[in-house]
Order: sequence, then C-alpha cells, then structure tokens
Amino acid sequence: MAERDRAAAADAAMPVLEKPGHPHESAHLHVTGAARYADDLSEPEGMLHLAFGQSSQAHAKIVAMDLSAVRAAPGVFAVYTAADIPGANDVAPVAHDDPLLAEGAVLSHGQALFLVAATSRDAARRAARLGKIEYAPLPAAITAAQARAADSLIEPTQRMARGDALAALETAPHRLKGGFAMGGQDHFYLEGQIAVATPGEDGQVHLVSSTQHPSEVQHLVAHLLGLTSADVTVEVRRMGGAFGGKETQAALFAGAAALVAAKTGRPAKFRADRDDDMVMTGKRHPFDVAYEVGFDAQGKLLALDLFLSSPCGASVDLSPAINDRAMFHADNCYYLPDVLITSERLKTNTVSATAFRGFGGPQGMLAIERILDDVAAHLGRDPLDLRVANLYAPGRNETPYGMTVADNIAPEMIAHVRQSANYDARSKAIAAFNAQSPVIKRGIALTPVKFGISFTTTHLNQAGALIHVYADGSIQVNHGGTEMGQGVYVKVAQVVADVFGVPLASIRCTATRTDKVPNTSATAASSGADLNGMAAYNAAMTIRARLETFLARTFGCGEDAVRFTPEGVLAGDARMTFGELARRAHMGRISLSSTGFYATPDIAYDRAAHKGRPFYYFAYGVSVSEVAVDTLTGEHKVLAVDVLHDVGASLNPAIDKGQIEGGFVQGQGWLTTEELVWHADGRLLTHSPATYKIPTASDRPRRLSIELWDGQNVEPTINRSKAVGEPPFMLAISVFSALNRAVAAAAPQVRALPPLDAPATPEAILKAIAAHRRAAGGVHA
Ligand code: MTE
Ligand code: MOS
Repeated sequence: MAERDRAAAADAAMPVLEKPGHPHESAHLHVTGAARYADDLSEPEGMLHLAFGQSSQAHAKIVAMDLSAVRAAPGVFAVYTAADIPGANDVAPVAHDDPLLAEGAVLSHGQALFLVAATSRDAARRAARLGKIEYAPLPAAITAAQARAADSLIEPTQRMARGDALAALETAPHRLKGGFAMGGQDHFYLEGQIAVATPGEDGQVHLVSSTQHPSEVQHLVAHLLGLTSADVTVEVRRMGGAFGGKETQAALFAGAAALVAAKTGRPAKFRADRDDDMVMTGKRHPFDVAYEVGFDAQGKLLALDLFLSSPCGASVDLSPAINDRAMFHADNCYYLPDVLITSERLKTNTVSATAFRGFGGPQGMLAIERILDDVAAHLGRDPLDLRVANLYAPGRNETPYGMTVADNIAPEMIAHVRQSANYDARSKAIAAFNAQSPVIKRGIALTPVKFGISFTTTHLNQAGALIHVYADGSIQVNHGGTEMGQGVYVKVAQVVADVFGVPLASIRCTATRTDKVPNTSATAASSGADLNGMAAYNAAMTIRARLETFLARTFGCGEDAVRFTPEGVLAGDARMTFGELARRAHMGRISLSSTGFYATPDIAYDRAAHKGRPFYYFAYGVSVSEVAVDTLTGEHKVLAVDVLHDVGASLNPAIDKGQIEGGFVQGQGWLTTEELVWHADGRLLTHSPATYKIPTASDRPRRLSIELWDGQNVEPTINRSKAVGEPPFMLAISVFSALNRAVAAAAPQVRALPPLDAPATPEAILKAIAAHRRAAGGVHA
C-alpha cells in the first residue's frame, strides 16, 4: 500500500480524540502528597536497609579487603562481597562490564566494593565507611586528554560520511577552524535511586524499583541470583523523575536489594543517599568539539569536517548508542553537502556516563548550532539568515546517514516565529541598546530543533499492553511504559477511553509490572506514548471487536451499526451504558480482557555503515531567547523566550506544554548553571545541591511563551501525535547562542565568536569576555 493510502486507512480506523488538556492521572495525588513512591510503601517487619562500601580510588587493584569492623558495627546484619553473588556479577545493560560489586580492581572513584545490610539506613551507611581496603594504585585517566594519550576507548572511533568533506574543504571559498567544550549534567531527579526487594516462596523475588526499564532489571536480577526471568517480578507504579538516569542505573540498587533479599530471606530496601547517588551513578556525556567548515560568501555550508569526542567513563553502558545519536543530530535542520563526522568514545576512570534526555542529540545539535554562529560572526552576518540559508529543502533533503527528511516543517516554523516573536525588530533594538550600554549587554538568538524519534537500535521499537474490562464497565489499563512524571499513563488512558467512548474516570492505570506485560523496552527515546499508546489501542480494539460481534448478534443489527459514543453504546436502535454492555457481555461469556502489541514499521538501520532510516519521523521545535549579560560579574538573565513546538496532533496539550517548559528549563540548566567538577584524583567534587546548581524558579525566563504547532504527524502514529519527552530540551540552545552574542557585544569590532564553553556560568562568561576583548587588542573596559 502506498504511504499516503496506508496513513489514510489507519486514520479511518482510529477515532479522532477530543483533545482537552486532561490533568496528569496522579496530579491530585502529587499535590496532596498522597502519591506513593517506593519509599512511601509501608515497611514490613524485619526489613533490612542497605549501603555500599565505595572505592576511594579511581583506578587500582584491590589487594585486600578487611571488613571485620563493618561486620562488628552496630545494627549490621550481613555484609556481602562479589564472592557472595550466586549468579553473574553484572548489572550492565549491554556489554557485561558493570559488576554489582568490584572484583579484583576498581575502575572509578565511588565504585561499589561491598554491600552492607543493617537494621537502619543510618547504621548501614555508618558501617559502610569502616571497610579497610588495601589498594595498589594503577594509572588513571580522569580527563579526556589523559584517556586520549593512553589510547583508552570503549569502542573504535566511528565515522559517518557523505561525499568528500576534505576535498570540498580544499575548494571552499572560505574556511574556518574552531572548537569548544560542553559539560555533562547530573539528572537530579527529585526521587533518588531506590529499590525494595521482597523474597517470595520457592526462591522467587519481587522488586519495587525506581527504574525506566523494569524488564532489564528483571533480567539482570535473574542472572545475578541464578534464577529465570519467570521467578523475578519487577513493579514500578511511578518514579519521581528519571530523565534517562534510571534507564540503566537503577539496576545497581535493585541488584543489591535483590541479593540481600535472596541471601537473608528478609525484605531489603536500598534508598541511595543523595551524595552517594550523585557519586555512584552516571551522568550526561561531556563533549569536546573540533571542526573545520567550508562555506561561500553568503554563509552557505559546503563542507564540514566535524570531530566529536566524549569521555564515556569506566564502562560501555549505553555510550555507543548515545554517541551515535550525537552524530545523527550533528546536522540538526541543515543540509551538509560534503560531511565527515568522526566520533571518539573515550574510556575514562570516572563513573560511566549514561542516558540523559536527548541521549547525545543535544551534544551533536549544539555543535552545528555553534558552527553556524561561528560562520555568522566571521562573515558579520545575522546568524538567523545563515540558519535559514542552510535549512533542508527540496533537493537538499537527505541526512548524512542517508535518511530523507520527508516532513521538513522547520522552514515554515522558523518563518512563523521570526514574525510572531518580532525577531528582526528586537535584533535592531538590541544592537541600539548595546551601543549605549557599557556594562549590560543583550543578545538574541533563534535556533531550531529537529529530533529523530525511535530507538536507533531497531528491535527496541516494540511495546505491549494488557487491558481488562470488568463486568461493571470499569477498565484497568496496563502497558510496558513507566511513569516518571511525563504523563505517559494519562495519554495511554485517553486512548483507551476513546476507543470505548467512556470518560477518563472509568480507567484505572495500574503499575507497570513484568508479570503483566513481558519483554518490554525501556521507557526512553521519547517513545513511551507512541509505542505503548499504540499497543493499548490495539488491545482495546480487540476487545471492542468482540463486543461489536456480540452486540450485532444480540440485537440483530450489523456490526457497523454498533457505536461507542460518549452518550453510550448504540447497537441499531438499542442504547445502553458501557457498564450495562460489560455486564451483558460477561453474562454472554465474552472475553473482556486482551493484550495488545505494536512494533514501529518502516525503520531499518545499518550501524556498521551508519546508513539507513533509524527514525520513524522527526519532531521539530523553534525557540527565540533574549538574554542580558552583566559584563562585570558574568551573571545573566534570560529575559524572554518564545517557543513554537511540534507535537503533531497533540494527545494532551496540557501535558505536552509541561514537557516543553520542563525540557527547556532543564536544557537551560545544562548550558548555564550545572557544572560537574572532578578532582584530579577522580573524585566528583560537585555531589550535592550545595555545589551543583540546577535552575531554580528565579532562573526561569522572565517571560516564557509556549505555542504548539498546528499540525499532525505525516506518519500514522497514535492520533497522529508526536513524541515530546526529549526534543524540547534542545530548545535551550537558543539561550546559549544568545549568550554568545551578548558576550560578543562586549567587543563588537571582533569578527569572531567569543570562546565560550558550556555551561556558561558567570566564570565562563567572564573568561570569554576577557578573551574576546583581548582579541580586539583592547585593554579591559
Ligand atoms: N518528564 C518528567 N516529568 N520526568 C522525567 O523523568 N524524562 C524525559 C522525558 N520527560 C522525564 C520527562 C526523558 S529522558 C524521556 S526519554 C521521556 O520523558 C520518556 O517518557 P516518554 O517516552 O513517555 O516521553
Ligand atoms: Mo530518555 S534519555 O531516552 O530516558
């Protein structure tokens, strides 16, 4: 079937949702404190509390561990080392290189060495400090430079190319070399890592885990304990934020709790202390970017040789896919004719870097946006004009990895925002302001976002659901998606409510459990509602089809005379409530329960060649940010932000706007306030809110206006909606770009971009101002 026909057919079968901004299904519980998180569950008699003994070295052989003082400490019930693990000592997602407890050597500071189970959390934490560990230090690579010097990689350097970038550079009328660095980011979920394990009969284990990936926790715990997956059940009602930080990292704590429950026969809870959580769990990858770009006098890009390098930490974790996604987004919305993207994945003796909202995409996207700013500064042009000139367009619509940009709405969206946010007039006003303002300098920037939706590991793009209709007409909905605050539960519930024509109040969302829906993918890659919404739709449609057959038989009408409407179920001339129908169907011995399944069609990617269609579609966004920088202190304010974001035909505009706002501010944190600092010996120095600053209410843009693009997905996704979880994060790049322009205004005669790295903390801004003024040959103003 042709693409469009197939889309039309899918639309005909799918009812169009009313699109009210339903509140989050737990909003009333969140705001009254009645929503139960893992730590709120009542603790059974005899529960043990856990803590890890941690490495004080970044890289060392473990010569000896004397844990006698730990064992003798008050309240300690048991102490375990790697030798006590009955199965595989491994909590890694892919590469089997993350031991639960270190064996033989430690690879990063803070790594878990041994596990203490005690009668209270405090007792466990105090005892965990009493281990006497003898180390034989090994050379450690803490920084990227040290890792590069030691040729220490987690996998071979990857290349994605089209044409001959180096030859095209040779013939380009203009060439520019540059580089910059961007920092990592801690997830700072409000609910820290936590797991509660309860031993069951016959060796079974039940876990409540704050994880985005219940099936992976189930699988790893089974291997750890030498059980089958069928003996391990993982349950997640909700997380208090995750942001990618609980995609793989939850397994460490779940594994520890499961081990103690299995060994002692007692329930065990591991609630990580905030400082330990920050030290022991992975963060966003920092990146170094170097480039040489060739362009014409109008600023049209002709050739790009781009080098991306990221320290991935001590193990593989998800770093290959994350760095791939950085490469996939190094084009953003722009056509790069001859391009070579080289991606170096360094192995360092720091905690393994992991998934974080955008999954490498933000890093790749910031690179190309920075390059465009650099070219614009070099040519003395407005960066927005350059951006527009380089956008994907008919005949120039193939990405460096060979995928066609079929739904290119970026040009239209940019034109819309350029007007609605009054970009050109404000740019002029800002130039005039800067000319007469010696200390405060302003900047404005518009940047677009194009984010690929799908797991780039193709087989992960599948989901399952389980729906029960009870004889009173109430409905339980279950699926593989986990709720972390993003609203996937309410979105899926809306889909099901709509299929049956019932109010949302008839639907009860139940906890995600591996014994309800098996073999699930992580709730990640922004695909939670896309995948699980469609799986639940399919499950609901199966039940509805049975009901239609039953009604047609009962009332002697055609199946096409059956309607599920908000006013009730119609079958020919008969009309009844959904509850009456459910009771009748039950009496008529009709099955009222069904599973549903969905696998994203049409995607395929050859990782070895870095070619194919890794994404089902793209989600777009545009933002304009205006900032003011105090050139004496380096502080800044974000004065105004205008966002236009594409969520297709929104499943829930209220939830989507919340995602856009939250994503934007989290991106702002990444690029301006959040700075991770490691000591030369490998210790993380910024391991609490005292030293690590996430954005607060006062950092929010003074004015933030968010508009949804009025469109629909060209692909037949659920309700023709688009994923929204990660893409808005990258809207904050306009803040960074605007900061660059404000800093540049401190020495406007310089035709170059100031050397500003991210995050643009006051220190970084002051340094960039000083360097920029030096480039002007001037003394400090
Ligand atoms: N929103 C909230 N409130 N809390 C979160 O932890 N995680 C983000 C995003 N939005 C997150 C969030 C990340 S990293 C992803 S991948 C998506 O939500 C996951 O959910 P979805 O696929 O259902 O959008
Ligand atoms: Mo999100 S980083 O894909 O969990």
